[in-house]
Amino acid sequence: MTTTQSLIIDTDPGQDDAVAILLALASPEINLLGITTVAGNVPLALTEVNARKICDLGGRQDVPVFAGLSRPLVRDLVTAEHVHGRTGLDGPDLPPPATKLQDQHAVDFIIDTVRAEPEGSVTIAPIGPLSNIAMALQRAPDIAPRVRQIVLMGGGCFEGGNITPAAEFNIYVDPHAAAVVFAAGIPITMMPLDVTHKALTTARRNEALRALGNRTGQAVAEMLGFFERFDEAKYGSDGGPLHDPCTIAWMLAPEIFSGRHCNVEIETASELTMGMTVIDWWQVTGRKHNAFVVGDLDADAFFELITTRLARLP
Ligand code: BDR
Ligand code: CA
Repeated sequence: MTTTQSLIIDTDPGQDDAVAILLALASPEINLLGITTVAGNVPLALTEVNARKICDLGGRQDVPVFAGLSRPLVRDLVTAEHVHGRTGLDGPDLPPPATKLQDQHAVDFIIDTVRAEPEGSVTIAPIGPLSNIAMALQRAPDIAPRVRQIVLMGGGCFEGGNITPAAEFNIYVDPHAAAVVFAAGIPITMMPLDVTHKALTTARRNEALRALGNRTGQAVAEMLGFFERFDEAKYGSDGGPLHDPCTIAWMLAPEIFSGRHCNVEIETASELTMGMTVIDWWQVTGRKHNAFVVGDLDADAFFELITTRLARLP
């Protein structure tokens, strides 16, 4: 990538969200306009605090952080303390944040920013449930053609689900929001479990982060040490999947990923398969392509990118 890209990260930190945010903070190719928070891994009262702690950790108290929706559009909130711990960011002992919470609502910030920035310049990276993004699109449909692209983590194809057999967590928590986003006509790049389950935080990769010798590397190693425990037990893998940073890495180094354009529809009717992403990988439906679905990555290059970038932070 040669030019600077303006970005809004919409997030529910989350240890892997934290690494995604830090990767963006460490990358001069990205102009991070703001971080919007949503209820997901833990309730909103914790995700907005966690996002501000991460800005402190990255030495970037200048990045504005906004609180958004505290619940999905239709369904009741489902959280994932069993993965991320009671705080959502268990692992390191991070102090209460000095970064301020902005007064403006996250949805208003998204709408105002996409309207104010040059048309086609703003990328949105949603790495939690899609509630804020869908609400912004419903309240201000005029922003859809102004958004450059959405690069999101969510869903699964052949890999199935991780919160139910059919559904991935981010889409499951707010499937109605996901349906709005996938129907919006905005160019979407989707990082489903098929790719993120190949981005494993092995012991060697985590040690390289700890060995950076800066406070960020130490804190991230502690976060991932906590985070990977659950998935190692669940999948029997060496390390846990580092889902959310795939979105930011895609913006920085798309050549380390591969995928294909597909039609993606979201299940919102059946309780059995609620939140399933029905991905037409084999192009059997003739339905219109609405996302570039990533299926594979060079995991060593991905972790090398994260490690060398986080080395630049305090
Ligand atoms: C997604 O759900 C959350 O637990 C992670 O932060 C990631 O965004 C993975 O299914
Ligand atoms: Ca997340």
